[in-house]
Amino acid sequence: MTDLVATARSLFAPGKGILAADESVHTATERLAAHNITTSAEMRRQYRDLFIGTIGIEQYLSGVILFSETLLEKGNDKKLFSASLTKRGIMTGVKVDLGTEPFPASQHELITQGLLDLPERIAKYKKQGAVFTKWRTVFCIDGGTLPSAQAIHENAKRLASYAKDSQTAGLVPILESEVLFKGKHSRTRARTVIEETLQTLFSVLDEHAVDRASIILKTSMALSGDANEKKDLPEEVAEDTLAALLKSVPRQIAGIVFLSGGQTPDQATDNLSAICQLSKKDGGTTPWPISFSFARALQEEALSSWKGKEENISVARAAFLARLAKVSAVLI
Ligand code: G3H
Repeated sequence: MTDLVATARSLFAPGKGILAADESVHTATERLAAHNITTSAEMRRQYRDLFIGTIGIEQYLSGVILFSETLLEKGNDKKLFSASLTKRGIMTGVKVDLGTEPFPASQHELITQGLLDLPERIAKYKKQGAVFTKWRTVFCIDGGTLPSAQAIHENAKRLASYAKDSQTAGLVPILESEVLFKGKHSRTRARTVIEETLQTLFSVLDEHAVDRASIILKTSMALSGDANEKKDLPEEVAEDTLAALLKSVPRQIAGIVFLSGGQTPDQATDNLSAICQLSKKDGGTTPWPISFSFARALQEEALSSWKGKEENISVARAAFLARLAKVSAVLI
């Protein structure tokens, strides 16, 4: 087994998952503003410290994905965030894409940017302590029309190029393919889009000779859109999600992690629980390990308690730990 494969597999240690704490400056500003917290670079550092500085997270987390800014910062304990994670046996990852922009060939769709100087940036992040990376592509569902085949293909090509660069540099790539929850679409439509996007992705990855064994897929669950009046049962979500993944994802990859995508913390936890239960049915129906890589579903309750105030840190951290314990419990 290569070091990369071993690293990728160790992110799936029993009962452990990955915290996505890699919000860009823009997204972090929005998240904090939603809790009436005014952002500054120092407030963003405190926001990261709220989560990374929580004692005991190593019981539930194998990795944390950071935004590049955070790789250079120190926690309230005056230690670099990455060093304090490593000390607790948690691997440091970094978001390496530079966000999305309108896709020139189809202006209502988004394409992920950041390939230009990627090898140089990855080499720099590696020196700063990162052992894995993440690149996010995003697809919006609009009726039967979007996402277009062109956008699916272009995003897949960029994911493949990123994955190759990351593997070449010796960092495990997490390929995030998000099908947005926003919209009126049905769960069946979401399932079909997950299948289409992943089937294209894996065929393009093969064309680029990306090593399957050391990649991690980060995917959405198959859900009815948030503006659809149908409220999915966790068992329905589990059935459609696993059906889509079993049809589209090769058995050799290191594992699959789920994003929360705007679901409430309870909804994401309950749906993940149903997915894990179904995946273990009859002695196990899935060839890959499954875990979580949530951002919002892990952070939301803590942010509501924190409100940017020092006196609320311990209550907020208790809420974060309680959510981690619930999410971790569904994996076992
Ligand atoms: O880029 C998005 C994160 O990796 C996952 O975030 O769990 O809030 O969807 P989320």
